[in-house]
Amino acid sequence: MKIVLTYGTFDFLHVGHIRLLQRAKALGDYLIVGLSTDEFNQVKHKSAFIPYEQRKVILESIRYVDLVIPECCWEQKVQDVQRHAVDIFVIGDDWAGEFDFLREFCQVVYLPRTQDISSSGLKGRLRNGE
Ligand code: CTP
Repeated sequence: MKIVLTYGTFDFLHVGHIRLLQRAKALGDYLIVGLSTDEFNQVKHKSAFIPYEQRKVILESIRYVDLVIPECCWEQKVQDVQRHAVDIFVIGDDWAGEFDFLREFCQVVYLPRTQDISSSGLKGRLRNGE
């Protein structure tokens, strides 16, 4: 069984997220999502509109997602890869090159982002009253 791991905040779930999860799952058999906690989002200078527990429930209901684990810090990735015997680490290409250090432990794949949609873009449009 091939195990795939990805990370993200997945706030205001949108089609870019779904396409990423669909393609990630298609690379293997079992998809684990490391979901950024609200505290870790602060470290990343992001703030999720939807709280962690609700984002987790939403992700768990997606057919491509098998397991959601918390992402609490930058440093946990090697440990997660080893603990869950991950074969493939995957993330959108806005992160291209950033996680190449994981190649020592598993395959690393950067997938093209879906164009013209993002959580921050959607939040901006809401703020503008669109
Ligand atoms: N993603 C994608 N296509 C998009 C938006 C996101 O493929 N249009 C991918 C990211 O590359 C990442 C995952 O979805 O692998 C989770 O991204 P996240 O940062 O949670 O979503 P964004 O919409 O990029 O959020 P923000 O605008 O806050 O950066």
